[in-house]
Amino acid sequence: MSKRILEIRELKREFVMGVETVRALKGISFTVEAGEFVTIMGSSGSGKTTLLNILGCLDKPSIGDYLLDGVDIKKLSRDELAQLRNHKIGFVFQAYNLLPRTTALENVELPLLYNKEISSEERKKRAINALEAVKLADRHDHTPSQLSGGQQQRVAIARALVNEPVMILADEATGNLDSRTSYEIMALMQELNRTQGKTIVFVTHEPDIASFSSRTILLRDGIIQKDTPNENIRSAREVLDNLPVTDDY
Ligand SMILES: Nc1ncnc2c1ncn2[C@@H]1O[C@H](COP(=O)(O)OP(=O)(O)O)[C@@H](O)[C@H]1O
Ligand SMILES: [Mg+2]
Repeated sequence: MSKRILEIRELKREFVMGVETVRALKGISFTVEAGEFVTIMGSSGSGKTTLLNILGCLDKPSIGDYLLDGVDIKKLSRDELAQLRNHKIGFVFQAYNLLPRTTALENVELPLLYNKEISSEERKKRAINALEAVKLADRHDHTPSQLSGGQQQRVAIARALVNEPVMILADEATGNLDSRTSYEIMALMQELNRTQGKTIVFVTHEPDIASFSSRTILLRDGIIQKDTPNENIRSAREVLDNLPVTDDY
């Protein structure tokens, strides 16, 4: 039995800029079932980030409905919305957004600080587990500047996982990474999707990256141009295994 994790109906988002109004989203509708791995594609300016920010409850639509796990987010107070976001959603950004001069472990513990029911021991235990899930168990005490870009992104993914969200939202999460490292991140996403059943919505403008997901929604000028299942999902692990060996890393 599948479960609807999100549903948006006729979503619009406009930004008023002085006398001008930018219509970033012009009426978008779709649903995502639990366990799906969806990529959102589209050229720069097509509305991907605007859409993802709404899905992640970082922003609200101008008009239209958004149901997250059956809850109409319009009916929630600010506090309730923050709670829901904290429990259901893990966000991963292009620029990692880690705190500098702060260890990997502390960065991953951060989202748990808002939860007063969790003791410091429990917090540490969960952060260690999350770092293990992204295969960085041996890098607890490293600060961001002591880690590679791919490792920093994995710390960011561990931070997104630490609250055990049902859904991971990623905005161009491989945008700053070389192709091998991007495939490593996609292999990790596929593993989280397959073994932990995480629902993933992954924004990218690269078709190569989208080929690892099970469905692609193509945005153009704030509307959905195409929404298609992927018949031929590639395995990022296989792609990695077949990459020619180079000595430049
Ligand atoms: N905060 C904002 N204020 C004004 N315009 C915005 C804002 N955010 C996005 N836009 C505009 O909305 C459109 C879609 O932007 P965005 O969602 O960032 O696209 P993408 O992520 O696909 O590159 C663009 O025209 C952009 O300039
Ligand atoms: Mg963007």
